[in-house]
Amino acid sequence: MSKVLVTGGTGYIGSHTAVDLLNHGYEVVTVDNHINSYDAPLQYIEEITGKKVSHYNIDLCDKEATEQLFAEHQDISAIIHFAALKAVGESTEKPLLYFENNMKSLVNVLSLAEKYGVKNFIFSSSCTVYGQATDLPVTEETEMKEAESPYGRTKQLGEYMLKDLAQFSNINVISLRYFNPAGAHSSGLLGEAPKQVALNLVPVITETAAGKRAETVVFGDDYDTRDGSCIRDYIHVEDLAAAHTCAVTYLLDGKNESSYEVYNLGIGEGVTVLEAINAFEKVSGKKLDYRIGPRRPGDVIAIYSNYEKANDRLGWEPKYGIDDIMRSAWDWEQNRPF
Ligand code: UD1
Repeated sequence: MSKVLVTGGTGYIGSHTAVDLLNHGYEVVTVDNHINSYDAPLQYIEEITGKKVSHYNIDLCDKEATEQLFAEHQDISAIIHFAALKAVGESTEKPLLYFENNMKSLVNVLSLAEKYGVKNFIFSSSCTVYGQATDLPVTEETEMKEAESPYGRTKQLGEYMLKDLAQFSNINVISLRYFNPAGAHSSGLLGEAPKQVALNLVPVITETAAGKRAETVVFGDDYDTRDGSCIRDYIHVEDLAAAHTCAVTYLLDGKNESSYEVYNLGIGEGVTVLEAINAFEKVSGKKLDYRIGPRRPGDVIAIYSNYEKANDRLGWEPKYGIDDIMRSAWDWEQNRPF
């Protein structure tokens, strides 16, 4: 039974990935400083899987504390590194906080991986690394344009750093570029539960419908798209979690062709903001209170993925679409246990 360290393991994508790994026979160690996630997912990860997780409440910027974890688990085979700050707007207000936190934690984890001989590393990257892409859908060969925010820059810098590390050390790295993760776990026990106020479209919609916020504002309907609103590629969090298990298995089986590989993780379909709202109204049977507002600074107009490479190489295939995402997110909003 191979052991996987999941950093940011009580966060949204981390907790779903921990479940998927455990369901595929991996042993899981999680670490989180809980600045943007609760303790509760631990209990639910164990309830869903019937397996135990070894958890550490540690800030990865504290290298000494992090080293204790590595010293206690000298048999870690792979690391999936989710832990990072991820609010685009906040990163423009506090760029240094983002550089310090996201880069320092990454360097600390990598240097401990090197010291303790962990040879497989998976990095949570983002489609944000493409900036304002012009050729759609984007493939892994699409060039990285200027990042639209310091948050996006930390993902680009992370990728560059890892590429060099993979070339000049014996660590194998996969960067997974997520498009827009959304939805909740089919058990109803895990979902998006940030401690900070939700800013992403899907939770904004469900919170509005649940009466937790007054309205949803559509950020612009005058873009050059089919209905004027921005286009994104929404991917169900369970599909995303499954891709991580595929990536870990692929590295552990030594199937990688190169020491540094990059994969897009989306479902290959562009959905506008207004189409997402329609999907929500259809599956929930509720009218959403929304209005059209001004454009949000820094928004990419349209982006969606070509995920053929992940399909070919990792054997990964997304199962869900925007309706499933909205159904599970709405169920989560109404019945969430934490
Ligand atoms: C961005 C990044 C993504 C990153 C995420 C972190 C890009 C292309 N994507 O996602 O990689 O992981 O931030 O948070 O850079 N919208 C509204 N009203 C709202 C909220 C959103 O109209 O109240 C619209 C946005 O304008 C956008 C779409 O919904 O068109 C999705 O927005 P959001 O959920 O915030 O994600 P991104 O900004 O696409």
